[in-house]
Amino acid sequence: MDYKQVIADAAAKASGLASEELLPLIEIPADPSMGDYAFPCFKLAKQMRKAPQAIAQELCEKLEKPSCMAGVQVVGAYINFYLNKRRFIEDVMQNVVAAGEGYGRSDIGAGRTVCIDYSSINIAKPFHIGHLSTTVIGNSLYRIYGFLGYKTVGINHLGDWGTQFGKLIAAYKKWGSREYIERNAITAMLELYVRFHEEAEKDESLNDEGRAWFKKIEDGDAEALEIFNWFKELTLKEVGVIYDMLGVKFDSYAGESFYNDKMQPVIDELKEKNLLEFSDGAYVVRLGDDMPPCVVLKSDGATLYSTRDLAAAFYRKKTYDFDKCLYVVAYQQNLHFKQWFKVIEMMGYGWAKDLEHVAFGMVSLEDGTLSTRKGKVVFLLDVLNKAIEKTLSIIKEKSPDLENKEDVAKTVGVGAVVFDTLSAARIKDITFSFDRVLNFDGETGPYVQYTHARCASLLRRADFDWKSTDKDYSALNNDEAFAAAKLLYAFPDTILKACEKNEPYLITRHTIELAKAMNRFYYEHRIIDDDAPKTAARLELAACIKQVIKTGLWLIGVDAPDRM
Ligand code: ARG
Repeated sequence: MDYKQVIADAAAKASGLASEELLPLIEIPADPSMGDYAFPCFKLAKQMRKAPQAIAQELCEKLEKPSCMAGVQVVGAYINFYLNKRRFIEDVMQNVVAAGEGYGRSDIGAGRTVCIDYSSINIAKPFHIGHLSTTVIGNSLYRIYGFLGYKTVGINHLGDWGTQFGKLIAAYKKWGSREYIERNAITAMLELYVRFHEEAEKDESLNDEGRAWFKKIEDGDAEALEIFNWFKELTLKEVGVIYDMLGVKFDSYAGESFYNDKMQPVIDELKEKNLLEFSDGAYVVRLGDDMPPCVVLKSDGATLYSTRDLAAAFYRKKTYDFDKCLYVVAYQQNLHFKQWFKVIEMMGYGWAKDLEHVAFGMVSLEDGTLSTRKGKVVFLLDVLNKAIEKTLSIIKEKSPDLENKEDVAKTVGVGAVVFDTLSAARIKDITFSFDRVLNFDGETGPYVQYTHARCASLLRRADFDWKSTDKDYSALNNDEAFAAAKLLYAFPDTILKACEKNEPYLITRHTIELAKAMNRFYYEHRIIDDDAPKTAARLELAACIKQVIKTGLWLIGVDAPDRM
């Protein structure tokens, strides 16, 4: 039941105003003693030519109390509505039970396509902790949009173009061993890259060699391409391990090099539309006074990161006909996206408004930030493995009898890192701490997963049967059950909001609140006792909570084990 709608309809009947107009006015009071819903009358004062307090009084007298409400009360200019708790709880649980795994699913996105550009790693570069956010935010958005009926296209816009690949080949030809690189992949490539820069400081001519090799890649030289594609393959194989651990997948790996032959038409069009100018040794598009110009070509005709993004946007529009194209990229690139979005707008394409930069903050470790240039970087794989290892020792201590400890440690360790990354608004910078992330009692992934496993264990122990009809809901006549039911009820709305704002953390927070509500219920009330119908009602609530936690975790890319 849509309670806001019920209130809007009743208020409409009492006031003679349209219920569509009243619906958006309804609020959920922060303090539940002020009602479960409140209808403020301030905005009606003008229309009804009365003081808001008087309107509240008058409407409340005329109002027919909806049967789902236990009470209606005027406080100042507000009409407060109190739900009939028992009916509400039963109603909500019935919805969850009926929908099962589909609770919260919707088809509001049906017929619409959203492209999501995320992870977008760089070839031959380590998958460091800085790539964690884009990967897990993007993966979560991919799942959220899909859950809401959108057609989703996950794109890993690989960084596989640039002079650094010429340098890398030069370094390989000088000092590399095929076998060593085969074995150590990204680490070995990183070593070559670092060595190249060290030696190039002493010997300038190395840079020329690098440039020459890059020119060979550009010209399609067989040897250069063979080595380059091999680097690419090794990189993708290595990061594939991480993607598997995180449960992340992509529909396309079309990276920067894919657009080599797709930029010229964009450049031609820019020229045709008189948008391209030669200035300060480069071809640029001027964007007005509030932004520096967008550089599209260097004086020697070389293309740039932005040229490739422009071509990629046109390609995606043509190929997928997206309704929305998201770029999950750190806020350091704010200007880059603002600039080239503007270029598309100036070219006269209305769909420029459908491009959105989903920006996020930095991740650093407690012991200082990371720099890739000097080769001092924190590999994400190491972070994940350390989280798994630490989780395993916690499990060994807490649940010595648990079977499959290794599997559970993986689910919980990796889940903890993902959960933490999606715990706060994306724009916030994060300092990563193993102790915080793995705390089973904090607002963490392990805490929520543990609550899920607790529900599973209760249901297992009592042999819970969804279909049993002998349930006595008076067992749920308490504040703890009511608070939990409210969170169940609000879950579908939270998913919609997370989608609207591209903010997975709203779902993360929801799972935390729900887990807390479950635990309060669990500590205040004996779930399994001798009264079978009452036990069945309490277990049904636990089953509903378990279902919603599981869906919520899935939406942020975290698995929910039944035992831990
Ligand atoms: N590879 C880039 C980086 O690591 C991110 C690419 C983001 N996507 C894009 N279409 N520009 O900084």
